[in-house]
Amino acid sequence: MSSSAKPRILCIHASERAQGNSRALYDEAINGAESTGARIERIAVRDLDFEPCTSCGGCDSTGECVVRDDMQRAYALLRECDRFLIVSPVYFCSLPGRFKCFIDRCQALWVTKFVLKKKVAANPGGMERRAAFISVCGSPDGDRMFSPAEKIIKTFLNCIDAKLAHKLYVPGMDKAGAVLEKPRLLKEARETGRALAVL
Ligand SMILES: Cc1cc2nc3c(=O)[nH]c(=O)nc-3n(C[C@H](O)[C@H](O)[C@H](O)COP(=O)(O)O)c2cc1C
Repeated sequence: MSSSAKPRILCIHASERAQGNSRALYDEAINGAESTGARIERIAVRDLDFEPCTSCGGCDSTGECVVRDDMQRAYALLRECDRFLIVSPVYFCSLPGRFKCFIDRCQALWVTKFVLKKKVAANPGGMERRAAFISVCGSPDGDRMFSPAEKIIKTFLNCIDAKLAHKLYVPGMDKAGAVLEKPRLLKEARETGRALAVL
C-alpha cells in the first residue's frame, strides 16, 4: 500500500428522517473524514429500494445474494470500502426497521465469512477495516437505549470483517435539529469522522 493511500469510507445514514439529528452528526463526521482526504461513499438507507431477507437460501453455496435490487450496490461497497461510518437513531431500543432489513440482507456476507470461510473484503490484506457508530435517541437514558443497537452493529461489523473502533452516543435529542444547538457534540462527531479516516 502506498503511503499516500487514503481510505475509502462507506458512510451509512439509517434514519427515516432525512434532516434530523443523526443527519447533522452524519454530515459533521463526513466533514471530519473528508478533511483528511479520505474518499467518501454515501448510502441513505431510506432511499434504497430493496426487499427484506426471505431466508431463501440462494446465497448458501456462493455467498452471493440472488435478489437483484439496490442491495447489490451496497454489497459491492461493503466489500470494497476500507472504513465504515454508521449513523443511526434509536427506534424502540433498537435500530430503524428498514436498516435492520439492510443488515439482515447481509446474510450473504455472513455465509461468505462463516460458511464458505472466505474473505469478505475485496482487498484482503489491504487497509485495516474499522468502523465508527454514531447514534442518537430521545430519552436521556442512554445506557439502556444504545446497548441493543450496539450489539446488532457489532454483529454486523463482524460479518463484514470490520471492528467497532469509535463510537459516539447522544441521548436526549428528540426534536429534529435539537443537536444543532450543541456545538460540542457536532465537534465530537467531526472528530469521530477524522479519527476513522486516519490510517
Ligand atoms: C419509530 C420511532 C421509535 C423511537 N424509539 C425510541 C426509543 O426507543 N428510545 C428513545 O430514546 N428514542 C426513540 N425515538 C426517538 C428518536 O431516537 C429521536 O427522535 C432521534 O432524535 C431521531 O433521530 P433523527 O432525528 O436522526 O431521525 C424513536 C423515534 C421513532 C420515530
